[in-house]
Amino acid sequence: MGGGEDLSPFVKTNLIAALQSRQGVHIVLAFVDNKPAGLAICFEGFSTFACKPLLNIHDFAVAPEFRRRGLAKRILKKVEEHAHQLDCCKITLEVLEGNKTAQALYSACDFAHYELDAQMGRALFWQKKL
Ligand SMILES: CC(C)(COP(=O)(O)OP(=O)(O)OC[C@H]1O[C@@H](n2cnc3c(N)ncnc32)[C@H](O)[C@@H]1OP(=O)(O)O)[C@@H](O)C(=O)NCCC(=O)NCCS
Repeated sequence: MGGGEDLSPFVKTNLIAALQSRQGVHIVLAFVDNKPAGLAICFEGFSTFACKPLLNIHDFAVAPEFRRRGLAKRILKKVEEHAHQLDCCKITLEVLEGNKTAQALYSACDFAHYELDAQMGRALFWQKKL
């Protein structure tokens, strides 16, 4: 969903090579009848609390013509299998408040809000653009 904007020419030109040159990049690609249908781009992180790696799903999408066929669920299952192989303690992701479709998917796949203590509430995702 992102910001609904097209990728810049710089990103389109350089993204694949940049991803290939980085450590800890894990990508699941889904094809239907040899047509690209969905992807999950994940980055390895590390939990100091668990002293174990974690896998962050940074990008996740199924092409419109292949939606509502269970493809996203299958991609998430693959990501989870891979995270187990890496001995990760968890899978993390961000989702926009307004993206109810993705939230329904993640809930159906047993993802939940990040909350350590009910009194302190949910974790908020912040950023500072550089
Ligand atoms: C969210 C998205 C990945 C779902 O892909 P999908 O292949 O259609 O999802 P699935 O068919 O595997 O559906 C799995 C579950 O998600 C939920 N779901 C999916 N689409 C839904 C919709 N339109 N309305 C309500 N629930 C929906 C349902 O719980 C569904 O389970 P069910 O079919 O048993 O009811 C897809 O809609 C998409 O790419 N959206 C745009 C990009 C995006 O939002 N990415 C996530 C960014 S955080």
